[in-house]
Amino acid sequence: MRAICWHGKSDMRVDTVPDPKIEAPGDVIIKITTTCICGSDLHLYDGYMPTMKAGDIVGHEPMGEVVEVGKDVKKLKKGDRVVVPFTLSCGKCWFCEHQLYSCCDTSNPNAELARAQMGHSPAGLLGYSHMLGGFPGGQAEYLRVPYADVGPIKIPDGLPDEKVVFLSDIFPTGYMAIEHCNMQPGDTVAIWGCGPVAQFAIRSAWMLGAGRVIAIDWVPERLKMAQDGKAETINFEKEKVYDKLMEMTKGRGPDLCVDAVGMEAHGGGSIDAALDKAKASVGLATDRPHVLREAIMCCRKAGTISVPGVYAGLLDKIPMGAAMNKGLTFKMGQTHVQKYMPTLLNKIETGAIDPSFVITHKIPLEEGPAAYKTFRDKKDNCIKVVLKP
Ligand SMILES: NC(=O)c1ccc[n+]([C@@H]2O[C@H](COP(=O)([O-])OP(=O)(O)OC[C@H]3O[C@@H](n4cnc5c(N)ncnc54)[C@H](O)[C@@H]3O)[C@@H](O)[C@H]2O)c1
Ligand SMILES: [Zn+2]
Ligand SMILES: [Zn+2]
Repeated sequence: MRAICWHGKSDMRVDTVPDPKIEAPGDVIIKITTTCICGSDLHLYDGYMPTMKAGDIVGHEPMGEVVEVGKDVKKLKKGDRVVVPFTLSCGKCWFCEHQLYSCCDTSNPNAELARAQMGHSPAGLLGYSHMLGGFPGGQAEYLRVPYADVGPIKIPDGLPDEKVVFLSDIFPTGYMAIEHCNMQPGDTVAIWGCGPVAQFAIRSAWMLGAGRVIAIDWVPERLKMAQDGKAETINFEKEKVYDKLMEMTKGRGPDLCVDAVGMEAHGGGSIDAALDKAKASVGLATDRPHVLREAIMCCRKAGTISVPGVYAGLLDKIPMGAAMNKGLTFKMGQTHVQKYMPTLLNKIETGAIDPSFVITHKIPLEEGPAAYKTFRDKKDNCIKVVLKP
């Protein structure tokens, strides 16, 4: 089959690789009908995620049709149409029983590698490094899906791929970024980034009762999409984010600050960000956490910082003194996708949201490598790429 494979920094290629096979009785194989490129894939593309190997199949936002079923699988049969969450979860461990699916204790076969880095291993993820399982990803024609009775959700006929495929990751991710933060009705939510994850966080904030949503970026078409979602916006290149947020909230600061940017933040000319960039370029830093610092400084006292943005390692110069003395709460994590899929599928079915609004590029799988560059460089008004194998 054809699949997009990682070959190093800024080097994705479409390779011919062996078709996946059933390896465990709980697996299914799906023929992929739609799959996407995510901001998280950019961290692989830009060489920020450790433990990638040349030839690794990437991609973690797939959907398709079940074509083979392992002998222990009960919930799926050949011909079912499913969306697959990027988090692989056993469904049986303490964490899965508590719906903390991205913390599954058993799905990462390379748990030792993760433990050495993080103290404990989170769940295995599709197409996202050897430390997180070394599972072949879903930017391919076919995919092996482990734990098939726990992950994939069946899609009723009549809903096109474009409306439901983002249940695999970015819609639940934007939703959880708000939902697990104990937001109160009427709260002001500030969201750093206007990428796809942030776009869903904006819409989820409204669904969950926000009083005001403010979104921050510098890419005009992304700011425009945020405004279409009824957010007020700040262009960080033109205005000082802290000053503007204080002006907008009369010095109080937003109640909930969401970092939907993660480890590759741009600095808008700030000194801390210039230092991050210099250190990262010579391997002395693992992440560029400018947004996290800014969110901590802007958040109102006793407010909450929500971090859906991905970080990889040890972060530099985090204003922990400010966070502690202001009494902030931190919420973060890879998304517990399985927990949110049924609720969010229902919102799509009832017409409360049509997630396809975020798609700007729909292209053949073969054009994937070029699309990585377009997406990373924010060219051609690119916000979300959907691939058709
Ligand atoms: N927690 C999870 O499970 C999960 C799931 C999916 C994605 N993610 C992460 O969420 C983040 C966003 O993903 P995406 O697909 O939207 O990515 P993206 O790269 O398309 O969007 C990031 C946006 O942040 C903006 N940005 C950069 N610096 C900024 C700054 N200083 N202030 C404000 N905005 C700034 C960029 O211009 C861009 O529009 C990534 O880190 C991704 O890895 C996490
Ligand atoms: Zn993703
Ligand atoms: Zn588990």
